[in-house]
Amino acid sequence: MSEAVAEVQEEEIDLAGANAILDKYLDMHGALMPVLQAIQEHYGFVPEPCVHLVAERLNVYTSQIYGVLTFYAQFHLEPRGKYIVRVCMGTACHVKGAGRIAETIKERIGVGHAETTEDLKFTAEYVACIGACGMAPVIMVNEDTFGSLTVQKVDEVIAKYQKMD
Ligand code: FES
Repeated sequence: MSEAVAEVQEEEIDLAGANAILDKYLDMHGALMPVLQAIQEHYGFVPEPCVHLVAERLNVYTSQIYGVLTFYAQFHLEPRGKYIVRVCMGTACHVKGAGRIAETIKERIGVGHAETTEDLKFTAEYVACIGACGMAPVIMVNEDTFGSLTVQKVDEVIAKYQKMD
């Protein structure tokens, strides 16, 4: 865990949100998954202090919670960027230069696969085929898809998000 991420976890986690979620689900059978999903929805990831809080209030072992969190790809244990940049590395995109696209993005935002910028603006992820092979090479930024990319087009896309809050 980077120092910046550790700081976020230690200093900025207000457990009121997690406690409110737990209050709502406390008497429900099989509450663990919906509680963890709601916590991730609230914080954008599942902070470590929340794992301990959930363990205590639902009376489950932290190891059981970490088992769930690491099994399901939907959960994230560290803060993620406001903009998730998914670079398709599937075969069609690979053949059409996905490697160069990924390198360009890394040069522009400063992080590569599974990394998040210090300002929590961008997270990069290299992913398998996202089902838009006809537009290869393709990236997604959150829900938006950008295809038929060149280095210049990627520059423009990233510059647009860098200007946004
Ligand atoms: S290989 Fe990239 S969208 Fe299918």
